[in-house]
Amino acid sequence: MKTVQTIKELISIMDNYQDKLIGFVPTMGYLHEGHQSLLIKARQDNDVVVASIFVNPAQFGPNEDLDRYPRDLAHDTALAKEAGVDILFVPTAEEMYPFESGITLHAGELSTKLCGATRPGHFDGVLKVITKLFHLVKPTSAYFGQKDAQQLAIIETFVNAYNFPVKIVRIPTIREIDGLAKSSRNVFLSEKERAEAVHLFKALTLATDIWKDTKNIEEALIKGKAHIEKNTTGKIDYFEALSYPNLQAVSNQVDHVLFATAVFFEKARLIDNIIVDVK
Ligand code: PAJ
Repeated sequence: MKTVQTIKELISIMDNYQDKLIGFVPTMGYLHEGHQSLLIKARQDNDVVVASIFVNPAQFGPNEDLDRYPRDLAHDTALAKEAGVDILFVPTAEEMYPFESGITLHAGELSTKLCGATRPGHFDGVLKVITKLFHLVKPTSAYFGQKDAQQLAIIETFVNAYNFPVKIVRIPTIREIDGLAKSSRNVFLSEKERAEAVHLFKALTLATDIWKDTKNIEEALIKGKAHIEKNTTGKIDYFEALSYPNLQAVSNQVDHVLFATAVFFEKARLIDNIIVDVK
């Protein structure tokens, strides 16, 4: 595995692989089994696997956790190597954003819901970095986790609308044994909060079960929310159900329903979701 820090070096390495299948896994590091499952799938599908580790300042709001986002490059390097990554791209912020062009991307309506409502500009920042990374790596396929379902929906729509020559591959959420979705931010939970955090998935499971039985969205959401309120000290940011991937109100026509929640704990905001296939 080769670790690359500059755009120039990355471009010159990638020039050698343009007739190969290139799999790309963008990350912000502090890698865990969730990231690992993306890397393993990329390894299975492709000749060359590129991963990036970049805590992208453009997608963090002013009062968010950019400065304390967890980092461990030694551990990440070992995990990436073990998963079969060929090229690990680890740029600095100056390398990625050497000047301010004043030209911006806007994720639009899809980013007004769920996480986008609480994190204005977040998905614009994701599109900014993903556009640059896709242009540099020129991947055949790029791998994203369903854990960040709204991010995945926005990237799929973006790529489709603007004809990026890349296939977006969805990877299911990897969980701890008790059901908590693996996340780099789980390290911020106190012991008590860690025990409580399992109730996000339990509440989503409860809500989806109710909805499957009754098709009553209101009841499903009320009971799901109440479960989190009763069993955690966290503050619910949202607990919602929308069609997937276009994030509209649920109607009888939809094929996939996304049940998603975000909960603020003392030092971490956790998200989780379940997508129910209707047909
Ligand atoms: P990050 O949070 O590091 O996640 C990188 C990728 O890993 C994302 O596609 C995310 O959905 C996936 N992932 C995270 N936890 C997962 C889990 N438990 N199971 C399966 N997949 C999981 O998402 C980002 O970084 C950034 O926004 C990025 C796309 C890199 C742009 O900066």
